[in-house]
Amino acid sequence: MNLILMGLPGAGKGTQAEKIKSKYNIPHISTGDMFRSAIQEGTELGKKAKQYMDQGQLVPDEVTVGIVKERLGKEDCKKGFLLDGFPRTLDQAKSLDAILDDLGVSLDHVLHVDVPEEKLMERLTGRRICPTCKTAYHVLFNPPKQEGICDKDGSALIQRDDDKPETVKNRLSVNLEQTKPLLDFYEEKGYLVKVNGDQDIDKVFQDIEKVLEN
Ligand code: AP5
Ligand code: ZN
Repeated sequence: MNLILMGLPGAGKGTQAEKIKSKYNIPHISTGDMFRSAIQEGTELGKKAKQYMDQGQLVPDEVTVGIVKERLGKEDCKKGFLLDGFPRTLDQAKSLDAILDDLGVSLDHVLHVDVPEEKLMERLTGRRICPTCKTAYHVLFNPPKQEGICDKDGSALIQRDDDKPETVKNRLSVNLEQTKPLLDFYEEKGYLVKVNGDQDIDKVFQDIEKVLEN
C-alpha cells in the first residue's frame, strides 16, 4: 500500500501515521522527523534544515526531494510506504510523480486529514514529544499516564522548538498557502480522500481503516 498523509500542521498526521504503520506494517516516512533527526545528529542537512524550520518556513524543495528520493529507493519501501508531510508544494508533488515512475510504482490513496484551522494552534502549543521514540502527546487531548513522561520508554517529554506560538503562526500561514493547489492536484488524479480529523484520535483512525480496507 502506497500512501500519502496530508494535512495542516497539527492535523494529526504523525499520530495517525503511527497507527497506520503498526497495523499495516509499512514504513512511515516523515520529512519533518528526518530533518529533526539530522538536527540532533548535527549533520550538514540538519544545519541547513534548522535555519528554515526555526522560522516556520519550508526547507527548499531540492533538499527535501533529495532525501525522499533516497529513502523511497530503500528495500523496505518495496512493501509499501506512508509519506507524512511530503509532498508539501506542487513542485514536490511533481517530483514525487517522477520518482514513483522511475521506481515503477503508483499511489493508492492520498489521505487528507482535515481539521478546522482555528483548532490547530491549541493542538500544536499543547503538544509534547518523546525525544527517544518520537511519540506525540498532548497536555489535554492525549496526555501520558504520568505527567511529562513517555508511556513507552520513560523519557522526559519535550516541546518542539517550532511549537512556540510565534513559529506556529508562520507554519500555518505558509502551509495554508501551499495546500490548496496540492489538494486540487491529487483530486484531479482521483487519489484524494478527505478524512474528518476533528474527532477523537481513535475515531479518525477508524475512518482511515474504512478507506484502506475498501
Ligand atoms: P513536520 O514535522 O512535518 O510538521 P507539520 O506538518 O507542521 O506537522 P506536525 O508534525 O506539526 O503535525 P501533525 O499533523 O503530525 O500532528 P500530530 O499528530 O503531532 O514539519 C516540520 C517542519 O519541517 C516544517 O515546518 C518545515 O520547515 C520542514 N518540512 C517538513 N516537511 C517538509 C517538506 N515536505 N518540504 C519542506 N519543508 C518541510 O498532532 C498534533 C497534536 O495534536 C499532538 O499533540 C497530538 O497529540 C494532538 N492530536 C492529534 N490528533 C488529535 C485529535 N484527533 N484530537 C485531539 N488532539 C489530537
Ligand atoms: Zn518515548
